[in-house]
Parts: sequence; structure tokens; C-alpha cells
Amino acid sequence: MNDGIFKEEWLTEVQNAQKRAYTPYSNFNVGALLITEDDEYIYGANIENAAHPAAICAERTALVSAYANNKRKFKAIVVITDSPEPASPCGVCRQVMKELCHDDMPVYLTSKSGEVIKRTVDDLLPLGFSGKDME
Ligand code: THU
Repeated sequence: MNDGIFKEEWLTEVQNAQKRAYTPYSNFNVGALLITEDDEYIYGANIENAAHPAAICAERTALVSAYANNKRKFKAIVVITDSPEPASPCGVCRQVMKELCHDDMPVYLTSKSGEVIKRTVDDLLPLGFSGKDME
């Protein structure tokens, strides 16, 4: 990925995040790396639960962790799974990204293949609902 933003070291970091997944029910490990505006790394992984709806996705784990640690401005997020091709964030994560990130923030999707796909928050949730719709 040569867009002048993405850094190769983010791949190693997101793989490290993925190792922290807790997935006794799906065995589908997802890692997320959130990069703050001052280049700090916030790690996320999916954390499952015997009561399945209580599971939380990697992307949201990273975002809520960032907020809880007083980090609110982000440069990008990288998401990795073990799928053959980069997997796509779920609808709930798209809505949460819409709430907490800029519409034009890059979302990099990658997988075992090493392929990196770039989208923005707005690409993933066009015409998404936000607080502006309630004004
Ligand atoms: N998962 C994520 O962590 N992110 C997504 O965007 C899609 C799904 C997790 C949730 C669950 O732990 C597992 O992947 C299977 O759905």
C-alpha cells in the first residue's frame, strides 16, 4: 500500500493486536490497530462471550479503548483477519466508526494474503446516520 499514509510497520502491529483476540466460540481472530494523530498505537481485538451478543468486535474494542484513554483524534485504522481475502467490518462497527472518526479517515483492511485494501469511513457507510441528522 503506497498512499503516502500507510506504514508497513502497521502490519506487524495489527498482527500483534490480533494475537490478543479471545475467541473460544468462533476461533475467528480479528485484530485492529488504531493510529492516533500523534502516531500512538491503540490495539483492539475481538473479545467473545458465552452469551454471544455480548461479544465485541476488534474495531470497537480499539475505539472504546482509545476514548477511555482520552485519545479522540485518529489518523487511520487497520483491521486484520485470517480470511484468505481482507474481510469487511460489520455494520455495527461501521456505525461506531461513523460516530467516532472523521468520514474521510482511511480504513485499511488486510488478511493473511498480505493484500491491503483502503477505504474511508464514508465509503463503508455512505449516507450514514449521525448526530447531524438530529439537528
Ligand atoms: N468480528 C470483528 O471483530 N470485526 C468485524 O468487523 C466482524 C466480526 C468478530 C466478531 C466475532 O468475534 C467474530 O469476528 C465472528 O463474527
